Amino acid sequence: MKIFLLTSLIFFSSVTPALATSPDLQFPQGFLWGASTAAHQVEGGNTNQWSVWEQQNADRLARTAPDRYKNLISWPSIKDQATDPANYISGAADDEYNRYDEDFDLLQQLSLNSYRFSLEWSRIEPKQGEFDEQAIEHYKEELTDLKKRGITPFVTIYHWTEPVWFSDLGGWEHSKSPEFFNQFVEKVAAELGDQVTYWATLNEPNGYAANSYLVGKWPPNAHNPFAYLLVTSSLIKAHKLAYTTLKQQNPKAQVGIAQSMSDVEAVNNSWLNRLIKGVIDDNSNYYFLNQIEDYQDYIGVNYYRHIRADWALSKSTPAKVSDMGWELYPQGIYDVLIGVKKYNKPIYITESGLADASDTNRAWYIQQTLSSVHQAIGDGADVRGYFHWSLLDNFEWAEGFWPRFGLVAVDRSNNLKRTIRPSAFSYASIAKNNTLPQP
Ligand code: GCO
Repeated sequence: MKIFLLTSLIFFSSVTPALATSPDLQFPQGFLWGASTAAHQVEGGNTNQWSVWEQQNADRLARTAPDRYKNLISWPSIKDQATDPANYISGAADDEYNRYDEDFDLLQQLSLNSYRFSLEWSRIEPKQGEFDEQAIEHYKEELTDLKKRGITPFVTIYHWTEPVWFSDLGGWEHSKSPEFFNQFVEKVAAELGDQVTYWATLNEPNGYAANSYLVGKWPPNAHNPFAYLLVTSSLIKAHKLAYTTLKQQNPKAQVGIAQSMSDVEAVNNSWLNRLIKGVIDDNSNYYFLNQIEDYQDYIGVNYYRHIRADWALSKSTPAKVSDMGWELYPQGIYDVLIGVKKYNKPIYITESGLADASDTNRAWYIQQTLSSVHQAIGDGADVRGYFHWSLLDNFEWAEGFWPRFGLVAVDRSNNLKRTIRPSAFSYASIAKNNTLPQP
């Protein structure tokens, strides 16, 4: 009897913990753990089509802020900033252009082995065909600095901002815009190509074209379906040219785009809603990827949104929302990743994140996202990296500075002081161990 009790005790004490906990989730070897930024949102001191637009629109954006944001739960805490015109001027942004060293220290402190950032076209080519050697030198130094720290750069070439000469010519509506862009890309490839393996030619071309030329929310505030189609076709052509240029310089380069992708759910899985889902998926999620199918080495996924597809486009009340009112639906990334499996390419999550000034949901959001990513990997999606948006609080386009996306808080009233948020430490420990612990 005693022996039986003893053996069952040993048996249960060794088995029980295994029953109570599930094994920690290991990520593939060599997984890129990173954070993302974009030049205009963090660098500061840029003069491009967007900064010109900010000057012209800051007062209007501040005056009309209540129309857009007063129903947000965050309104009481954002009101002062959102109604202040200064919020809508990128200005010094995070001064990252000068403080990149400090920010790369942060990456290291957070055990991140990769960094996604963008080049500012207006700095490199301030006049058409004239390149600024100092700006090029600057980006070379950033790349050298990253290398020294063992951090792999993931470089975006166009993250929505362009030199004023380019937009004066008509921007992406100009019939030669893809060639203009490619001249810039040729210079970039020749000067920086030896230091970069991972390139994203364009950030969210679909989101940019829609918001700038259809919805009219961003410069040049157009509501013109023809311009939208024209710009989309220019961007497709621009990417293909850039892809060819970059691969010529280095056949081993990994070139793609960062595509904005939503999780589209067919409500009740009815046939009609599945049909609607198909239309949204084909037009918004896959259109650009299909157009450039033979010109991409990986699929870059920016994931933020869950869309409930049904006839009335009804909205459910989300359980959790970000400070911007966006539904927090981290598990939706699973379907997105399974959806892009069909391209048979490596997948990088080039962005995922949330505006969360109080840091209430960020750690949870990251953990849930990564758990869904892990599940997708188990189901055959070849995911090789995750970049959290964003490293720093930064300038959020038409919303300005009030949305706080940073793993690291930036204090705008105290010399842009950086403070690591608690959620960033929890992300850091996942990155460091290449493992998502399970409860
Ligand atoms: C985008 C951009 C980022 C945004 C981020 C948060 O996807 O819109 O790549 O520049 O800041 O997504 O909205």
